Amino acid sequence: TVYLGTFVHCVSLSDLEISEKGAIGVDENGVIQFVEKNVDLAQVHEKHSDWKEAKVTELKGNSFFFPGFIDTHTHAPQHPNTGLFGKTTLLSWLETYTFPTESSFSSLEKASPIYTNFVSRTLSHGTTTCAYYATIHVPATNLLADICLSRGQRALVGRVCMNSHSMSPDYYRDATLESALADSKASIDYIHSIDPQGDIVRPIVTPRFAPSCTAECLSALGDLAKSHDAFIQTHISENLGEIELVKELFPKSESYTAVYDETNLLTEKTILAHAIHLDQKERETIKARGAKISHCPASNTALTSGCAPIREYLDMGLTIGLGTDVSGGFSPSILEECRQAIWTSRFRAMGNGDDVKLSTQEALYLATRGGAKVVGLEGKVGGFEVGMEWDAQMICLGEVAEGGEKEGVFESGPVDVWGWESMEDRVNKWVYSGDDRNCVAVWVRGRLVHKTAKFQG
Ligand code: GUN
Ligand code: FE
Repeated sequence: TVYLGTFVHCVSLSDLEISEKGAIGVDENGVIQFVEKNVDLAQVHEKHSDWKEAKVTELKGNSFFFPGFIDTHTHAPQHPNTGLFGKTTLLSWLETYTFPTESSFSSLEKASPIYTNFVSRTLSHGTTTCAYYATIHVPATNLLADICLSRGQRALVGRVCMNSHSMSPDYYRDATLESALADSKASIDYIHSIDPQGDIVRPIVTPRFAPSCTAECLSALGDLAKSHDAFIQTHISENLGEIELVKELFPKSESYTAVYDETNLLTEKTILAHAIHLDQKERETIKARGAKISHCPASNTALTSGCAPIREYLDMGLTIGLGTDVSGGFSPSILEECRQAIWTSRFRAMGNGDDVKLSTQEALYLATRGGAKVVGLEGKVGGFEVGMEWDAQMICLGEVAEGGEKEGVFESGPVDVWGWESMEDRVNKWVYSGDDRNCVAVWVRGRLVHKTAKFQG
């Protein structure tokens, strides 16, 4: 297929490349074979004569292609609780809302519609790759992997481990260390069996967080990840009460980061969610181990956990992606998370200076290229380059007809374009006021995985 029209992607943290009249050739394996700028179809056919028979998907109106979003941290079973957090903070929120809901996923009948809906929902917001936490239940975790595979969404799917009596309630806890490990291994083996190459779904070792796991469990999961060369995801330093609890539970460890480091859970394939209140030494340890950070600003504000110092992390060269962290976060949308990341950086800027602010370009970078690095897909997804795979979304903005408001404008979503805007203006309008109505088609590895009625092609 030749994709024809404007494409926008991030080439570096601060550089957004906008190519009007672009053309991208994608082969039957979903791999980008050419990227041309400033061409029409005749010129494409002249230059690439063996593509004359290829299907053409051409943009119409105020549209552009953008790389698919990468959600580096979310909880699929918490989807039904979206928006429910009241005035709780992390530990009371877990006990009040999260553990009761997650424990009900012992039932596949309960899990199935929620997981199906959530994967559809994240795809509809342009999320082409997602790092999911499931629950402690193997059948439901495997079902989530099945759904991602059949819908074609790239995913890391993790069976949650929680065996300790401190932050795992009696009704929702791994029975023994042995059963926790056996269940985690069973889910890893199942996910390998349905996608041996891991092109679409991959397993991820998932200790919930230090307060939910014994030291033996954390160590055993570190070993399990090593023996399977697997990714690891967990939470770190999200809330001050949580950090105090970790100090009590692991008195011999110097810090929260040290707990994970001592149990071999800090690797180049580790995704650490939140990472708000890290001291300098912890930051340096994380950097030295090559572990990655998932920034979840919507959740961090909802649970009043704090404002992560992302500019400081970027300046020291930490690798960062964005995470929706549903249902600590209130939206499955990474576009919303871009806004929240920008907003959080502005709250930090009040008092710390303008340099701390994240730009639109930087937020979009974290949502695409940054996320790709976090989930081990750098060079494969997150941008439009020869050799990368076509994980993309077609963004369609509204068009205000002559004379102002006209029928049809509101169907195109909330972004009104008046005609005088530069492409950069349009991207800003999309980031600040767009939503899933603007995301009219989504592809993963060249496969169309979501479309709305507005998509023709
Ligand atoms: N820490 C441990 N479990 C969770 C969870 O489900 N959500 C968030 N935000 N933090 C956690
Ligand atoms: Fe989380």
